[in-house]
Amino acid sequence: MSFVADLIEDINVLYNLIKPIQGATHQERLESFYKGQAQSYDSFRKRLLQGREELYKSLLQYPGDVWLDLGGGTGANLESIDANLSQFKKFYIVDLCPSLLEIAKQRIITKGWSNVETVEANVIEFTPPEKMVDVITFSYSLTMIPDWFVAIDKALELLKPGGVIGVIDFYVSRKYPLAQWSSHSVFSRYFWPAWFAKDNVFLSSEHPPYLHHRFESVQFIEKMANLPFLPGVKVPYYTFIGRKKVDYS
Ligand SMILES: C[S@@+](CC[C@H](N)C(=O)[O-])C[C@H]1O[C@@H](n2cnc3c(N)ncnc32)[C@H](O)[C@@H]1O
Repeated sequence: MSFVADLIEDINVLYNLIKPIQGATHQERLESFYKGQAQSYDSFRKRLLQGREELYKSLLQYPGDVWLDLGGGTGANLESIDANLSQFKKFYIVDLCPSLLEIAKQRIITKGWSNVETVEANVIEFTPPEKMVDVITFSYSLTMIPDWFVAIDKALELLKPGGVIGVIDFYVSRKYPLAQWSSHSVFSRYFWPAWFAKDNVFLSSEHPPYLHHRFESVQFIEKMANLPFLPGVKVPYYTFIGRKKVDYS
């Protein structure tokens, strides 16, 4: 794509990031936010939502039949595991936003992914026909799910014993984090939640502690991401991989 076309796409996304979000329900608000930028979502988020390819690729080391991608949006993350997708009997992209799911549907047809299905649903209400699954991912979706703690509990319920959850998202540290975890400045802890809340993205210090509480931690990595158009400005994000404890009751 030409430089001018790329620039027009970016300007469109930036406009949608600052324009007021309308809607009486969560789904209406998601659609209001994403509808005007759905076509440009992937190119802009490729630079904003870092670490996703690494997470999806690293989850391939855990064998399984069914993968639930909760808040999966356009399904762009599946591209990073395209060559291995056929090893799954079923891959569900669950999302509440019709405009983003439309892009996912087009991608599934273009790629010929016969085992991939989109589901328009609230992740806290969805149970797949298989009842239990092997892998669950939340890629930058937990911060957009109002009842994120219910979503984590639901994921735990849907995972088979020994099943794996992968989460990646923006966050801020607690004022007093565990000694081995990152500690963010007062500025970061107040600024980033306020900045993202404008788009109904709610950064929390409580996501990593709650994930560690509910799952057996396999990997927890804390990093800083660059922001498009803001050189030198970095926002904290984490990657968590956890297992459902085999004797969990
Ligand atoms: C920042 S996007 C991330 C999309 C995709 N996972 C990615 O990595 O590009 C957050 C996604 O969460 C979805 N979402 C938010 N709340 C949801 C809910 N309660 N149920 C289903 N999807 C939800 C949004 O529609 C959106 O597609």
